Amino acid sequence: MKLYRASLAHTPRNPFTHLDALETFDDGGLLVDRDKILELGEFSNVQAKYPRAKVIDCTESFIVPGLVDSHVHFPQVSVIGTMGVQLLEWLETRTLPEEEKLADSGYAREVAKDFLTHLVRNGTTTALVFGSHFKNAMHEFFQAAQDSRLRITSGMVFSDRELRPKLHQSPQQAFASGAELIMRWHNHNRLRYAVMPRFSLSCSDKMLEVCSALLSAQPGILFHSHINENPLEIQTVKRLANAPDYLESYERHNLVTERSVFAHSVHPTASELARMAKAGASVAHCASSNAFIGSGLFPMRAHLEAGVHMALGSDVGGGTGFSLLKEGLEAYQMQMLQAEGIKLSPAHLLYLATKAGAKALHLEDQIGDFTSGKQADFVVLKAPRGSTLERTLSQSPSMAASLGALFTLAREESVKNVFVAGEKLV
Ligand code: GUN
Ligand code: ZN
Repeated sequence: MKLYRASLAHTPRNPFTHLDALETFDDGGLLVDRDKILELGEFSNVQAKYPRAKVIDCTESFIVPGLVDSHVHFPQVSVIGTMGVQLLEWLETRTLPEEEKLADSGYAREVAKDFLTHLVRNGTTTALVFGSHFKNAMHEFFQAAQDSRLRITSGMVFSDRELRPKLHQSPQQAFASGAELIMRWHNHNRLRYAVMPRFSLSCSDKMLEVCSALLSAQPGILFHSHINENPLEIQTVKRLANAPDYLESYERHNLVTERSVFAHSVHPTASELARMAKAGASVAHCASSNAFIGSGLFPMRAHLEAGVHMALGSDVGGGTGFSLLKEGLEAYQMQMLQAEGIKLSPAHLLYLATKAGAKALHLEDQIGDFTSGKQADFVVLKAPRGSTLERTLSQSPSMAASLGALFTLAREESVKNVFVAGEKLV
């Protein structure tokens, strides 16, 4: 047994519904027995109860649950920072040409390994990862993900219209590839499969039917796609799918369920929100991407009032990097800019970056907070010597204030160690 001594913070309850959601220990002890969390509390109390546990001294550090990225694209690391274009032009001119390069499995392997390294460096231990259009690139990605020991849910991306023909496959090919990947990788170690039409803009009804069939191929498969991100995209979907709204293009194929995660949802109608809430579908809020590619200000209050579950996604490469801490800051700022915005607290940000993601990914029984019995996935954050963060933390009046400083200032240079199931990855 190992007893980690640090300042601890987690959200065992939902801060959108509970005032006492945030639990912190200034001088805390996190007791880990092999892959699981056994206990959490004041360091002195936990130590008195388990005097034989080996103490790992992380004083001057903060420990939070492993961060969960609920929407990120593995082939897009090298397009981060593409300026001056909105979604469809951004896809056409820079992003999809890069994704075409993953037809080369050797390149796909290199990109996959690199991507997973960046997740870990940023403290992300679990992710829902938008894949590649190429089956062999997905075998490379899943192999690298298995080697990384991270908790990864991913899938091959399907398209059969619009965009670039090199990225198309027929619905029959998509079914065969999806079935092969599910057989090989779904529920293998920490991997799971999610069915991923790129978006209904680039998928015919036949293709979405295939998605529906794959979704029920085995229990536990998730559905993941994009929705209501950009006005021109929405207009195009309604025209191509001949649908009154974007959600309907998925609904008509039974793709809106409690196992569905939709990225963006920047411009939903009230009816779409009500239907997503009723179905129990989740939204991955990608704050930095929504700002960077000019998609719009996320209507968090409307989602909350409708009862739609939300988590955070970095949406690399539309997003501006892998840090879920930065994504929390961006979410905070995007709300502050709106008259109707939610005043997010550090507890909300921590929840959105951890437990909310675990819930969206249906992993809440295993990860997301430090409840006894959960998997020991956690991140040790420490301000670099001489950094602005170190200075700010030294004057912090409370743990909540320290968390606010971490979301604002801590980035990959402050991620000291990352643990998944009690095992150190960094
Ligand atoms: N919609 C369809 N594909 C993409 C993508 O790669 N990134 C974003 N942000 N939106 C999309
Ligand atoms: Zn995306």
